[in-house]
Amino acid sequence: MSRADDILNIATKRGFFFPSGEIYGAKAGFWTYGHLGTIMKHKFENMWRNFFLGLSDDYFEIEDTSIMSEDVFKSSGHLKHFHDPMEDEKGGTKNFNLMFDIRAGVKGDEIMYLRPETAQGPYVAFKREFMALRERLPIGLAVVGKAFRNEINPRQGFFRLREFTQAELQIFFDGKDIDVNFNEVKDYKLIINGKEIKCSAVKEPKFYIYHLAKIQQFYLGVLGIPKDKFRFREITGNEKAFYNKIHYDIELKIESLDGFVEVGGLHYRTDYDTKNHNILINYNEKKIYPHVLELSFGVDRNIWGVMDIFYKKEKERILFLFNSNISPVEVAVFPLVNKEGIPEKAEEIYDLIKRDFNVFYDNKGSIGKMYRRMDEIGCTAMLTVDHESLKNNDATLRDRDSMMQVRVRISDLKETLNKFLSGVELKKLGKII
Ligand code: GAP
Repeated sequence: MSRADDILNIATKRGFFFPSGEIYGAKAGFWTYGHLGTIMKHKFENMWRNFFLGLSDDYFEIEDTSIMSEDVFKSSGHLKHFHDPMEDEKGGTKNFNLMFDIRAGVKGDEIMYLRPETAQGPYVAFKREFMALRERLPIGLAVVGKAFRNEINPRQGFFRLREFTQAELQIFFDGKDIDVNFNEVKDYKLIINGKEIKCSAVKEPKFYIYHLAKIQQFYLGVLGIPKDKFRFREITGNEKAFYNKIHYDIELKIESLDGFVEVGGLHYRTDYDTKNHNILINYNEKKIYPHVLELSFGVDRNIWGVMDIFYKKEKERILFLFNSNISPVEVAVFPLVNKEGIPEKAEEIYDLIKRDFNVFYDNKGSIGKMYRRMDEIGCTAMLTVDHESLKNNDATLRDRDSMMQVRVRISDLKETLNKFLSGVELKKLGKII
């Protein structure tokens, strides 16, 4: 089986994601997140919120509708420009608009569209928020929500979808600058087109470079993506989206998709959108159309990227080397055998920690099989209760990656788990047994 098949196989079998409406014959490009995938997706989205909304006290999240009026997309340029070339019946190539239309109203005569990007919500809501936020700039408005595109070829399994989730932050500013702490990143090295280059040597405006640095720090520092699997790619000429002046894609090296692929982008959209929507505001005693810097991420693509990058096939097992912050199950608890008071002790431990961690209790099968099942979904820490546990009030803690174990005391279990899940090495938590 190919790497993509292996990952898809686990994803569908174990409850990460699977084709939507399968029992009626699934339609390409629509996927359901199962119980594990949903946790992972929420974890990704929450880390994204914490990190990017945390960059400024003036960045906020809003929630907007997925269905918007035709006027929005006439003004935004999507009705005119948002298309892909498609071969017609005679072999010529025509343009195919990627938006899904909806007929609203009892007569079905009100044409509306499913949003093809979350970005338009913050643009058309901007004036309200600008007033509510006491007319200051910059203001960041984020949306984490669904976007829809009638992709011509929704192949590549989970990668090119027709319904997907975007996490996008639109930063509105006066066109001159966004007040960023450039000093903090000036010596930080960005990976652009495969080369490392200091922020201070990049040709773009400082506010743009600063956000490139923050994006890279999110991938390497928060998600734990290895350096060689991450890069920015500058997009120029015709490849640039119709609204962008400066455009770098965020790319991850995804082996199941044969190399680097786009999972997001940093877009300097200028005043393109605010002019199109006629969002003229009074700011510092002048009338201005705010400029927009957009941080755009495809959540599902990132989920696939993370799964691919942390996938590992060993002789005896398949595992995901997820950081615990993205792992759908952080801790598993097992009784070594189902007798002699051991399950009761294991349940007691499960009850003790289940409110503090994502915990899974399993007692079905041999201990070896239970370990393998947890390895396969990237569970970080595995606790086993054995006969000794009853005497000493302890359990073994197994590290997924090395398969090594130490004995840990139940009295300080939460603290020990917190340390282990945040990256403290197993051998620092006890004697390897
Ligand atoms: N608001 C800007 C925007 O939508 P985009 O490059 O068209 O820009 C942003 O899309 C991100 O959304 C992409 O980098 C990708 O991660 C995700 N995305 C776009 N189309 C997608 C699709 N058909 N399936 C899954 N994700 C998609």
